[in-house]
Amino acid sequence: MHGPSRAHDNLFDQLSMRTETSNLKPNESSRTALIPARQRAAHQVLDHGSILPDPFAMKILREDEKDVLQFANEHPLASIGRLFTAARSRIAEDALSRAVERGTRQIVILGAGLDTFALRNPHGARQIRIYEVDHPATQAWKRQRLAEAQIALPPRLIFVPVDFERDDVEEKLAAAGFQQNSPAFFSWLGVVPYLTQDAIGSTLDYMASIQNSEVVFDYMEPPEAFSEEMRELVTERTKELEKIDERWASRFEPAGMAAILRSHGFCDIEDIDFQEIASRFGRAVQGLAPGHAGVHVVHAKH
Ligand SMILES: C[S@@+](CC[C@H](N)C(=O)[O-])C[C@H]1O[C@@H](n2cnc3c(N)ncnc32)[C@H](O)[C@@H]1O
Repeated sequence: MHGPSRAHDNLFDQLSMRTETSNLKPNESSRTALIPARQRAAHQVLDHGSILPDPFAMKILREDEKDVLQFANEHPLASIGRLFTAARSRIAEDALSRAVERGTRQIVILGAGLDTFALRNPHGARQIRIYEVDHPATQAWKRQRLAEAQIALPPRLIFVPVDFERDDVEEKLAAAGFQQNSPAFFSWLGVVPYLTQDAIGSTLDYMASIQNSEVVFDYMEPPEAFSEEMRELVTERTKELEKIDERWASRFEPAGMAAILRSHGFCDIEDIDFQEIASRFGRAVQGLAPGHAGVHVVHAKH
């Protein structure tokens, strides 16, 4: 078991802004997995998938365009979430493509939710193996959805049920055929904010134990980093999450996150903040609301 070392514990104590206990219950799928899936579907309908073209986004969601539009228009700042959700996947998938060009053949999607990369995989000819790792209940729910939507599973997609708070990711992936001695690319989107510092630390430890590993993930800053209207939305979302028994458990300052990554041996670290995301991709989002979100996408190599 790769538990975080004492040194990492201490560093987390100092640098993580808010920490709580575990979220998902053993037999309950994540309801928050629906939110980014709806954002990606709304991005197809409203922005024509200009950041992330995803022909499966609506299909896997199994909701009407009318419901997706209602979700997209529910809150005047919803476009900010739509931008961030599409952009983090695009950043991850671009980095993934570069890793495949360099020879990486193992892709691990941690906390996959309703992510559709495996269905859209443009690197089929290169025989990459895609390991989708998720909470057992969420994964079972996704598989049921895929079957109901009659979406065929691609070859070389391997489902690995794992609870990051309870299970050993290394053991579960190895049992599923993952090669510990070969390079791997990890995509870990929309998950870190929901995990405790222990689960984040042990997952980083695990990734760092693989030579030539790299990861793209996103994290949240404390509420003060958000513009005023966004802060109100964050407060509303926090209450809604608590009602469904899921919650944001960890927030980080950028300097703190960089220190944690360095302490795990990641040396090549790119931290992309919301301003940079808005300037790279904002024009592609219809009617993007003004406002600043304290959210970041990190690409780190070991
Ligand atoms: C907000 S969703 C993001 C899903 C997906 N990556 C995306 O961007 O659409 C959070 C995901 O983290 C997973 N998750 C949360 N806590 C987890 C845990 N303790 N163990 C395994 N997965 C967990 C949930 O099952 C869910 O799929």
